Formats: sequence, C-alpha cells, structure tokens
Amino acid sequence: MDFPSINTLWCGAMALLFIIIVLSTKRSMIHRGNPSQLPPLVNGIAFLALLPNLLKKGLHDVVNDLYVKHGSVFMAGLFGPNVTFLIGPEVTAHFFQGLESEISHGKMFVFAVHMFGNAVGLGRDIATQNEQRRFNSEALKMSRMRSHVSPMLDEVESYFDKWGKEGTVDLKCEFEQLLMLIASRCLLGKEVRENMFGEVQTLFHELGSGMNITSLLFPQLPIPSNRRRDRARIRLTKILSDVIESRKISGRVEEDTLQKLIDSKYKDGSSTTVEEVAGMAMAMLFVGKHSSSITSTWTGARLLSHPTFLKAAIEEQIQIAKKYKDGLDNNAFMEMETLHNCIKEVLRMHPPMGVLVRKAHKKFTVQTKEGKTYEIPQGQIVATPTVVSNHIPYIYKDPQVYDPDRFGPERQEDKVGGKFSYTSFSGGRHVCTGEAFAYLQIKVIWSHLLRNFEFELISPFPKTDWSKFLAEPKGNLFVRYKRTSFPQ
Ligand code: HEM
Repeated sequence: MDFPSINTLWCGAMALLFIIIVLSTKRSMIHRGNPSQLPPLVNGIAFLALLPNLLKKGLHDVVNDLYVKHGSVFMAGLFGPNVTFLIGPEVTAHFFQGLESEISHGKMFVFAVHMFGNAVGLGRDIATQNEQRRFNSEALKMSRMRSHVSPMLDEVESYFDKWGKEGTVDLKCEFEQLLMLIASRCLLGKEVRENMFGEVQTLFHELGSGMNITSLLFPQLPIPSNRRRDRARIRLTKILSDVIESRKISGRVEEDTLQKLIDSKYKDGSSTTVEEVAGMAMAMLFVGKHSSSITSTWTGARLLSHPTFLKAAIEEQIQIAKKYKDGLDNNAFMEMETLHNCIKEVLRMHPPMGVLVRKAHKKFTVQTKEGKTYEIPQGQIVATPTVVSNHIPYIYKDPQVYDPDRFGPERQEDKVGGKFSYTSFSGGRHVCTGEAFAYLQIKVIWSHLLRNFEFELISPFPKTDWSKFLAEPKGNLFVRYKRTSFPQ
C-alpha cells in the first residue's frame, strides 16, 4: 500500500523551509560567525542560487555542499523562523538529548493529533507523552521480537508461495503489500489480519490523506482530504476499540503489540484506555510500515548491484540454514550479521527520514570539532540532515561507496564519532522505538528471498525521490526472479 498524499508533505516541507529562508532575505552574501557567536548565515539569495542544484542534484548534495563550505553549523535566513543546520555527532548531542522543555518537535507535528486522535502524542501533556513513549518502546523492545518471528515467517512464506517458478515483479510494489500484511498481523493482531485486512488497508490509505501540504498547515480546514482522514481515523479507532474490548471481555490474551499496549500501565497504576491503545497502534503502523518497505526495496537494489555482498549474504544463509535445520528462530535472525550490516549500510546511504527537525524553546550552545562555539537562539527551527551526517568522511571511509563491512567488528565506523555518528533511527529522546522490529521484518523477508530465489535487476539503479515525505527509490524496481533449490 502506498500513501500517495504523503508525497507532497516532504516537498511541501522543503518548499516551506525554502520560502521561510527566501522571505527572510535582506542581503545576498554569506556572513561568517559574528561577535555574538551566531552560526554563519546562508541568507535567502545565497540559498536561492542553490535552487537549480536542489532540483538537479537533490537535497543531499545541496546541503552537503553547504556543509563543506560552512562547516557543521550554519544558519539559513536573517530573521523570522531561521533554520539552523547541525551536522555531525559533535554538535547534535543537545538536539537529540535535550529536555522536551528545551528542544522538541513543538507544534510542527500537530497534524498527527488529527491522524491518530487526541488521546496520544501531542494531544497529551508532556508527562503523558513520555509515559506513552515508554509503552511504545516496551512493546517493541528486542526481547519481545521472539514472538513475532513465527507470524512474520508465515506471512512471508505464504506471500512468496504465490509467485511462480520464474517471472518479473516490481519489488517496491511487492514489499508495500507484504509489509502491510506483516504490520497488520504483528502490530494490530490476528483479528484484524484475518477478518478486516482489506478494509483496514484502505483506511490507512485514507488516513494518509492528512499528509498533504494543505492538511499539514491547516489540519482543521473542512476540505475533502481532511474529511477523508477524519472518517478513516474514526473508523479505525472503532475497529481497534472493538478488538480491544472483545479481548478484555473474553479474557483472551494474544502475543502481539496491541496486547502489550493494552497491558501497559501508567506510573500511577492506571491502565491505558481503549482510545490510547488504538491511537498508539495506528501511529506505530503508520510510521513503521512505509519506512520498512522503502528499506527493503533499497536493500534489493543495493544487493543486486553488488555481487560480492550478495554472495556473502547468500553464503551466510547457507551456513545458518545448516545450523537451524529445524527452522529459523529469533536466534537465527540475530546471527545474520552479514545481512544485518547490508541493511544497516542501506539505511546509512538511504535514510527514509533524510532530515530530522526540532524547535529550540531555549537557547543553547554547540561546539564544533574545530573548537568553535556557537549560540543557537531561542525560537530557532533546528534541522539535522541525517542524509549528510551519515556521509561525513572522517567517520565513514569512502562514504559514497556501499560497503557493509564498515560495520564489521574490525572497523565499526559508526562508533568512531561517538553515539550520534549513525542517526538513521534518530537518537536520544525520540530514537525510533521500532528499530528491532524493522530489522527483524526486513531480515525475515530477505533471508527468505535469498534462500529461495535468484534475481536479476532489470530497472536501472534508482535515484532518490526527494519529493516524498519519506525519501524513497524513484519509480519501480523491476527484477527477474527464478526459484532455486537451496542447499540444505
Ligand atoms: C527502517 C525502518 C525505520 C526507520 C528508518 C525509522 C526511523 C525513525 C526515525 C528517524 C525516527 C525519529 C524521528 C525524529 O527524531 O524526529 C523514528 C521514530 C519513531 N519510529 Fe521509526 N523507523 C523505522 C521503523 C519503525 C517501525 C517498524 C516502527 C514501529 C513498529 C517505528 C516506530 C517509531 C515510533 C513510535 C517513533 C516515534 C518515537 C518518538 O518520537 O519517541 N519505526 N523512526
């Protein structure tokens, strides 16, 4: 399933950022750090000059050029809501770890309240948000993954059983379908997966109507996309509430994430409400499904164009299949280090969230690697472009090269610059709570594909589509497949 209306969000966000910068332009030069130690300023006209490059080369190259020219901290705009870019582990500790009262998403994501309801996230006070974040992270923590292996394997095996002996498919489209099936089963539960999958899939598609630029800026406007989004939220909440109530009444307990959210307790001992559970589950599925299907597609594109790593990943599957003759379990997937690093390297080069954004509620200072100290004023929009920081040459050797071995035990390049050297899953307070789940499902998929099929990439290696909220491979990813007999 795609969320076509998401497409405009990222485009819109970038356009908005761009407009803010251009509107706030007064001079057409670049100011170096001034006596009050504000970061160097790339003003509107200087930024305007970059527009052709932005359209031609994409976000990564443009922000990277600015990083090379101005260093790890620079500001865009002169007054109004300036945007400060922070790039690299030396200057991003406060961005990731600051208290919510100091730096947070602010009202930037208030549209999420209209998508997932006011019982969760920004609809609640900060203390409740923090508790709900704890519920999410408890529900998705590593030790819970064991229970997802079997349902994930079932979904993956039955999905690919439907493929023929050989054929041609668009992997991007296949993974969107498959990831929705897995997410429904493991996150929402078997009641939804078995009885209401079609309706729920359509409703999530409709919920995505709230991701166009007008809805994001004016989420309350009575326009058709907002109405579709609201109708979808109300219906999804009802479907999930019925499932939750029926489990509570019957005393039935399942091994899925919905159950963990139902069983969660606030510090004062109170239970989560039906609306809270439904909202958290909807948000999880919405944020996690698409990023995982994008990453599965990039993994295909990278492996199929890098025969050495493809061969190493297949060899690992042969060894693990021999060891786990009676079937793959969670330990088997934990042992797939080669495949893990192939995916991790995909995420370094193609993070679905290319830029992370916060608002500074209080001023703070940062010190660069070169020892320069800058003050970031209160009220600033602060952005850290993961896509650029994941390519810093003093951390990642030959950063443009796909090289999963960089994460192997000898090199561990992501540890070189400290804990914010690798931020594809963010870090600190808002670190992705679904990382273990994401890796597991992508490994289950690719492990099955490597053990059962041979592939040939037909499409050219895709460019990145920056016009989407979550950056994804542009166009289709066609591959030719043939079933293989895997050595047992
Ligand atoms: C490859 C797949 C994924 C990637 C690259 C990814 C990346 C991210 C990033 C970068 C953030 C933080 C955004 C920020 O700092 O502003 C985030 C947050 C989050 N992710 Fe993921 N994610 C993935 C999969 C998942 C999955 C599968 C789930 C759930 C099943 C999930 C659940 C969440 C949640 C609940 C948050 C909000 C955390 C918070 O604000 O406290 N993610 N993700």
